[in-house]
Amino acid sequence: MDIRSALHLGLQQLQQSSADIALPHLEAQLLLSLVLQKPKEYLIAYGEEVLNDAQRQQYFDYIGQRTKGRPMAYLLGYKEFMGLNFFVDESVLIPRDDTEVLVNYVLKHIAALPSASVLNLGTGSGCIETILAKNNPNVQIIGVDISERALMLAKKNLQLHGVEDRVTLLVSDLFSALSSIEPFDVICSNPPYISTKDMRRLSTDILCYEPPHALYGGQDGLHFYRRIAVEAQAYLRDGGLLALEVGSNQSLSVIELLQKYGWLAIETNQDLQGHIRIVSAKKQKEPIE
Ligand SMILES: C[S@@+](CC[C@H](N)C(=O)[O-])C[C@H]1O[C@@H](n2cnc3c(N)ncnc32)[C@H](O)[C@@H]1O
Repeated sequence: MDIRSALHLGLQQLQQSSADIALPHLEAQLLLSLVLQKPKEYLIAYGEEVLNDAQRQQYFDYIGQRTKGRPMAYLLGYKEFMGLNFFVDESVLIPRDDTEVLVNYVLKHIAALPSASVLNLGTGSGCIETILAKNNPNVQIIGVDISERALMLAKKNLQLHGVEDRVTLLVSDLFSALSSIEPFDVICSNPPYISTKDMRRLSTDILCYEPPHALYGGQDGLHFYRRIAVEAQAYLRDGGLLALEVGSNQSLSVIELLQKYGWLAIETNQDLQGHIRIVSAKKQKEPIE
């Protein structure tokens, strides 16, 4: 079987799949490029080249996995986020474009500071830490995650992008491994925020492949916001910033939580479609008794 026929057959299989495959043509090309370790342009230029048995088998194995819903990012082993490629595997959430709003918001805030210390809760692939460090030479970051496997992958991403010297990774249940002796200027997080009800509505590619501990935010989806609203003040300097990514329809509940625990200057920020993607707040000067 030559490259052209393999692409054609792969495309057909992807098109017939019940998985949510928006760009089957591109995906067939990317998977064959991966197998052959050649750029997409090669496939077009050398359409008559015949695949060997191992290549054919590997390609149709990938196509089969994709038709069952395995995300492209896990098959390819990387995902682009804010212009950089990040290694991903099933131990981490695939970075989402939505998270750009949080990263840009934090970058804007720290740009005004001579130097900044940032804590990111829930590192995952390390995409947030990497982009912050890449774009601000004066930032020092601690990233924490409950998953040791996720942190091992995050470390590879920090190294890939040359920022490992300014980012410390810790296995921690939110703040459990941290000391409050040196408070941070900024605490940010894209925590797990899917409720029990919404978990049932997730598409196969998310539900069956992405790690549940990166998605599930408790019965009402607010478990981590509740904990962060209560615990974060002890780790922020006076006037320090808390910036949280929120799921759709969660902003009002998160605002209420932050108000309840005495946070000040609560604000929301939207994505380009006008959806509220982050809720931020400042630490009050005197802790509430
Ligand atoms: C929604 S993902 C965000 C990953 C990454 N920051 C991103 O934006 O792509 C949430 C992350 O929180 C981590 N996590 C879950 N429970 C945690 C806990 N109790 N303490 C620290 N991290 C936790 C998960 O392992 C996951 O990596």
